Amino acid sequence: MATATPTTSGAPTPAHATAIRLRGVTKTFGRGESAVTALRGIDLDIPAGELTMLVGPSGCGKTTLISILAGLLSRDGGDLAVFGTDLATLRRDRLAAWRRDNVGFIFQQFNLVPQLSVSENVSVPLVLKGESVGAAVRRADELLATLGLEGRGKSSPLKLSGGQQQRVAIARALIHDPRLLVCDEPTSALDAELGRRVMELIRGRSTRPDRAVVVVTHDDRIFHLADTIAHVNDGRIDQLTRRTSEPPTAGSHR
Ligand SMILES: Nc1ncnc2c1ncn2[C@@H]1O[C@H](COP(=O)(O)OP(=O)(O)OP(=O)(O)O)[C@@H](O)[C@H]1O
Ligand SMILES: [Mg+2]
Repeated sequence: MATATPTTSGAPTPAHATAIRLRGVTKTFGRGESAVTALRGIDLDIPAGELTMLVGPSGCGKTTLISILAGLLSRDGGDLAVFGTDLATLRRDRLAAWRRDNVGFIFQQFNLVPQLSVSENVSVPLVLKGESVGAAVRRADELLATLGLEGRGKSSPLKLSGGQQQRVAIARALIHDPRLLVCDEPTSALDAELGRRVMELIRGRSTRPDRAVVVVTHDDRIFHLADTIAHVNDGRIDQLTRRTSEPPTAGSHR
């Protein structure tokens, strides 16, 4: 079972306390001859108040790992505590509510809803939390403007370029100021200047002591923003790099 001390979902977390603790987390997709083992035993502590990056070759398990720690995918084995909650103990409806209240997730493929306008896509997390559609759309438009998408709120996401769609996905993940922000390749479709602006926004969310930010990336232009870089290789963490000379706070690794 999880070893972190349970807290209520609204409880503050001291700076550099462990926000997310993974021990021996495993995941295999499929069965029999077609089975693919994506995670072979992940040991990692993700500190609160910091930005943790995950890097590693294509197919090494990065998206699988962040999907599990964000409560989008169940693990097969091992222990996982996110802000003190073992997500495996939550029933499906409680888990959905936990995600709504705690998580912002930027998907690698953006996952925008084509039937909704750009503003409506971004406003969904606020509406789910009970804000009126009108107020949520206004806040969405303000955030979109800071990401260089002023005036695009009424468009269909299908009419936007890849980089514009990615910024919509980023706005949707940030708008409700989530406690846990998880970003899968958030700068992959952005030029250098937009990538820098987006990462400033993301980095700004990480410095609060009750927050945690996890960014999967191949983008070496943003590595310097990480407090910790966890190198994923074939379903395991095989190296941790800390930005400062402090000893790593991440868990035991192989
Ligand atoms: N839903 C799924 N069904 C079957 N296999 C899957 C599924 N999702 C991932 N996999 C497999 O698990 C392994 C890890 O995939 P994952 O998407 O986590 O890699 P990744 O590190 O994010 O790669 P990339 O950098 O290309 O995005 C791969 O071998 C992949 O084929
Ligand atoms: Mg991936």
